[in-house]
Amino acid sequence: AGQNLFYYEETDSTNTQAKRLGEEGAAHGTLVVAGQQNAGKGRRGKSWSSPPGSSIYMSILLRPELPPDKAPMLTLVMAYAAALAILEQEDIGVKIKWPNDLVLNKKKICGILTEMSAEVDYINYVVIGIGINANTESFPEELSETATSLRLESGESVCRARLIAGVMERFEQCYEEFVRAGDLSPFAAGYNDILVNCGREVRILEPGRERNGISAGIDNGGRLLVEYEDGTTEAVFAGEVSVRGI
Ligand code: BTN
Repeated sequence: AGQNLFYYEETDSTNTQAKRLGEEGAAHGTLVVAGQQNAGKGRRGKSWSSPPGSSIYMSILLRPELPPDKAPMLTLVMAYAAALAILEQEDIGVKIKWPNDLVLNKKKICGILTEMSAEVDYINYVVIGIGINANTESFPEELSETATSLRLESGESVCRARLIAGVMERFEQCYEEFVRAGDLSPFAAGYNDILVNCGREVRILEPGRERNGISAGIDNGGRLLVEYEDGTTEAVFAGEVSVRGI
C-alpha cells in the first residue's frame, strides 16, 4: 500500500480527494495525505477539525476483491493497525473503542471514516480515512473534554512522516492477512486485548430501546458481543447502534 502517494498542503478532505482519484481510476493502495483540510469529515455527517501543522490527515484507496458486506471490517483492520503502530512508536497505552476510535484516558486520539463505492455484488473502491491527533496542543472548546493528542499525553512531539509510514506498514500486513482469512480471525484476539470496552458495561442504543450489558469483545466478523443480564448474548453490528458508557 502507499506506492502512489499524493501530498497536498491543503485539500477539502483527503477522503473526498481519494474518492475523486478513485473515480479517475487510481490504483489500489493510493495514499492521500494532507497538511490541513478545509472540509474534514467525521462520521454521522459531523465535521472533523483539521487545522494545519499538527495532525495527521490521510486516506487510502483500496480496490478489494471482496463482497461489499465485508467492507465494514476494513475499518476495524485500520483501527487495529493504527493502534499497533502507535504502540510501537510512542510510549503511550492507546486503546481501541469499538468499532474504530482510538482513545487514551477516555479521550479520543484518532478517528476513522470509511466510504465505499460498490454495486450489489462487487466493490468498486473503498476509501479509509484516518485522522490522528499527533502534535495538537489545544482543541476547540467543544472538543477539549473529549479529545486529546499524542503530544499532550506523552509530552513529546511526534514525527508525522514516521508514524504515517508505520501505520501504512502495519495496515498492509493486516490487510493481507484479513483478505486471506476473509474475516478478522487472524487478529480478533489481539484487537480484544486492547479493546477498552472489553469486560466493561456498554449501553446499546437501538431505535426505541436502550439496553445495558457487558461486552465480551468482538467476534471474527467485527461484531461486538454483548452479554445481557438475562444471560443472553447478542452480536451487535457496527452502524446499527451506538455504544456509550466509556
Ligand atoms: C470520526 O471519528 O468521526 C471519523 C473521523 C475521520 C477523520 C479523517 S481525517 C482524514 C480523512 N479525511 C476526512 O475528511 N476524514 C478522515
